[in-house]
Amino acid sequence: MTNNPLKVEPISPALGAEVKNINLQAELSVIDAKTLNDAFLKYQVLIFRDQRLEPNDLVRIGRYFGSIARYPFVKGMKDHPDVIEVIKKEDESINFGGLWHTDTSYLTCPPKASLLYAKLVPPVGGDTLFASMYSAYESLSLGLKKTLSQLNGINHSTKSAAASTRVNRIKDNPGAPTNITMQASHPIVRTHPETDRKALYCSNAHTEKIEGMSVLESQPLLHYLYEQQQMEEHTFRLRWENHTLAIWDNRCTQHNAINDYQGFRREMLRVTLAGDQPY
Ligand code: SIN
Repeated sequence: MTNNPLKVEPISPALGAEVKNINLQAELSVIDAKTLNDAFLKYQVLIFRDQRLEPNDLVRIGRYFGSIARYPFVKGMKDHPDVIEVIKKEDESINFGGLWHTDTSYLTCPPKASLLYAKLVPPVGGDTLFASMYSAYESLSLGLKKTLSQLNGINHSTKSAAASTRVNRIKDNPGAPTNITMQASHPIVRTHPETDRKALYCSNAHTEKIEGMSVLESQPLLHYLYEQQQMEEHTFRLRWENHTLAIWDNRCTQHNAINDYQGFRREMLRVTLAGDQPY
């Protein structure tokens, strides 16, 4: 830490920035909090390195960006109900969030943002990929944008690929609700409520079909969109270190936790921020 002014350095053209010269253990000035919120809206994912944080710090930091919400399938920590542990143990093979998704888009009001803090990362691997859904949307033709503007996607909590990534964490959480299914219809192209920019809002993890069509009929178009969402030019790769904090905007990004560290433990803490109904 230095007394230099806070600095925001972009990581890739599509999204992502690293914030330097900041100590998140301390209360932020009004000016720094505003700078961070502006940077969050512009870069969509912010990374803070070398921050010594406790669960209650994560909740406090989250409140600079919004109000706290809870993840529906995993109970929070005993003394910190707003914080969930995202752990992959040495002997587990499946990781939480190991596929492209935006968080819990099967909720009527999906979360605005999520904070993820690295307590323990493997010696190598366990990176997270992020993709800008602004950039993916903007790369489409005018004709396809026009077609998509009339479509809603049905998002479901039980799509098997995503549901299987929660299994170990639910097992560790006796008392957490396991048998609820959640479903929400959201526009395939949503307008960001703060920036007014348009972003693709469907994902292989949660979007089951296009409203008014069968699953089979929906697949060709949805799979084309998933391919576009994952093109390298819309992405960046976060290499975590212990004590790295990331905050991402779920309204205009997706992420994918890479499961390439079998035999090693990875321990993260997550806080979720409440969002609005997409339009
Ligand atoms: C998540 O999807 O919330 C987890 C992402 C990660 O562990 O990198």
